[in-house]
Parts: sequence; structure tokens; C-alpha cells
Amino acid sequence: MLIYQATASAPVNIACIKYWGKRDTKLILPTNSSLSVTLDQDHLRSTTTSRADPTFKKDRLWLNGTEEEIKAGGRLATCIAELKKQRRQVEENHPNIPIISNYAVHICSHNNFPTAAGLASSASGFAALVASLAALYKLPATPSELSLIARQGSGSACRSLMGGFVAWEKGVREDGSDSLAIQIAPREHWPDLHAVIVVVSDHKKGTSSTAGMQQTVETSALLQHRINHVVPARMTAISEAIKAKDFDKFAKITMQDSNQFHAVCLDTEPPIFYMNDVSRAIIALIVEYNRVSVAATGHLKAAYTYDAGPNAVIYAPAANIPEIINLIAHYFPQNQTFSDPFKLFTNQVPGKL
Ligand code: PMV
Repeated sequence: MLIYQATASAPVNIACIKYWGKRDTKLILPTNSSLSVTLDQDHLRSTTTSRADPTFKKDRLWLNGTEEEIKAGGRLATCIAELKKQRRQVEENHPNIPIISNYAVHICSHNNFPTAAGLASSASGFAALVASLAALYKLPATPSELSLIARQGSGSACRSLMGGFVAWEKGVREDGSDSLAIQIAPREHWPDLHAVIVVVSDHKKGTSSTAGMQQTVETSALLQHRINHVVPARMTAISEAIKAKDFDKFAKITMQDSNQFHAVCLDTEPPIFYMNDVSRAIIALIVEYNRVSVAATGHLKAAYTYDAGPNAVIYAPAANIPEIINLIAHYFPQNQTFSDPFKLFTNQVPGKL
């Protein structure tokens, strides 16, 4: 008997230009484009195995060993249905391949880092899920084409299907067919750029990104300024900085965008605070570290960025990483630091580990 099964793995990505706000909540179409770096640390990835079998009664999914409900019409169901539809099209066009699109699937997903620790587990999770089903169904889709599906699971997941430096173009079409991820540069382009992740708190965040975005779109005046007058120029400038491997420019834009994203959250009703006192103290530390460096050498040494939670991600040239880890360990001895230099995915073929 033939076994139809495939495994794929995807890492988390951390945005330098933040996605915040949906113009279509069902299709998950963003109000602005965004850009991230896909981390490739061994301890920050989701690995997912999907299996199709005629004896399975219904689609089921386990996350870290616990079964999760696949709600009808929900994001998981949408992604699974879209991938089955694409398999059906392949079956119709190639009469000799096995018909498996009508089998139910069982999906097992595992994160090798704390799921609730605010480390973008939905991004790696949905990317790995889409990549594993695409491999199971042997779809001819490119990572950019698959990003259209992953986006409907969790917006930021579309960027985890590719390695290196990845832009999510917001697109203009109402059906979302041009709201997809593209690789700006592969990891090998800038191997000297490393990341340190400082886990400030592993508590589940108070306001989910979905609720936070909705509230921001409904009540923040600053968001309109951000999406119309700030992000487009920043997308161009940071892409140029990456292409030129210009750390000063990259760092400045990354920190500015993190600051503005958190300012937009503060501008909502009621205000949302994702950073805490430790997050702010880490910002003060990096600002001082950079101030001393600029005075001595004219160059920045590190860039902080924060997602919808208190944990810091610090980008820096490799030579500065030991110093940064020592500084963090000295001033914040209780915090857990993920500090491996990251290697990024390049030319990731869905289904290949
Ligand atoms: O994809 P979501 O719904 O988890 O939203 C992610 C939003 C941020 O992480 C704050 C920013 C981003 O671009 O990843």
C-alpha cells in the first residue's frame, strides 16, 4: 500500500518593517507592505508532517502533541481547502497521478521553542503546514505562489516560506492575488548580519495581533499617516540598505519602524502596550551602546526591534554579538537569550528539510 506523507520545516521571521493592519480580514490583506529577515536557528522552527489516507474520517491537526480543532471556515480549514483544490487541479490535468485530494489529512506540527513565548510561532507554523501539504500533493507551486496560501493562515507566515530578506508586497487587487512574498536577497548575500533574541517574558500576550490590528485600523489616526506617508519610502530605503549591506541605514530604519509600530499601538483606543519596562530598558541600553560607538567610529553597532510582545530582537554585525550578549547578560541576568548566529533559508524547496 502506498503511503502519502511529507514533512517540511520552516523558521520564524522577524520584521524590520512591520505589518500592522488588515484591509481585508478574511483574505488577510494588509494595509501596508512589510519586510523581514527569516531566521534559521535550529531552535526556532516548526516542523510539520502531513499524511493523506483513505481510512481517515476527517482532517485533524495536532500541535506539539495536543489536538487542535479545525474550525469550519477558519484559517486552518481555509489553507487545507486551498491546497486540496490545487491538488485537484493537478489531478485533472494529469490523469495518471493518484487521486488523493479527496482523502482526509492528518497533520502533526511541532515547534522546537515555547509556542506561547511571543516568538512568531504562527508564522513558522503556517509556513511549515503549507509547505508540508504542498510537498504531500507534489504541487508545482513556487514559494511566492505558496505564500498566497500561507498568508491566509497568518499574515506574517507568508514571509517564512523563503529565506534571507523577504518583502510582503501588500498588493492592490481585491482578490489578494498580488499580495505575496518575494525574496529581496538570499541569506548568503549578507552573512555578517546576525540576530540575538532576548526572551523578556514568555507569557501569552494580552492583546492578540488580530484584535490589536482591528482596533488600530478602527481608531488610530497615526496609522493612516504611517501607511500612506511612511512605509512606502521605508520599504524602498531598507531594500537598498540590504542590497548595499549598509548596516547603519538598515539599523536606523529598523529601529524607527519598531518605534512607530509601537507608537501606533499606543495611539489606539484603548491604548495597547506590548513592550514592558525591561523592553524599554533594553532600548535604552542599545541607544547608549550606539551613541558611544557613533562618537568613536561614526557607526551604529546594533538595531533593536519588537513585535507584538515584550521580547527584543537585536540585529548586529557578527563581530558585535559577543559584546551584546555580555551587555544583556550583565544588565538583565534573568533573561533567556537565543544567541546562535542565524543562517537563513535560501531557495527553500517545500518538503525538503
Ligand atoms: O501575522 P500576525 O497576525 O501574527 O501579525 C504579526 C505582526 C507583527 O509581528 C507585529 C509584525 C510583522 O510584520 O511580523
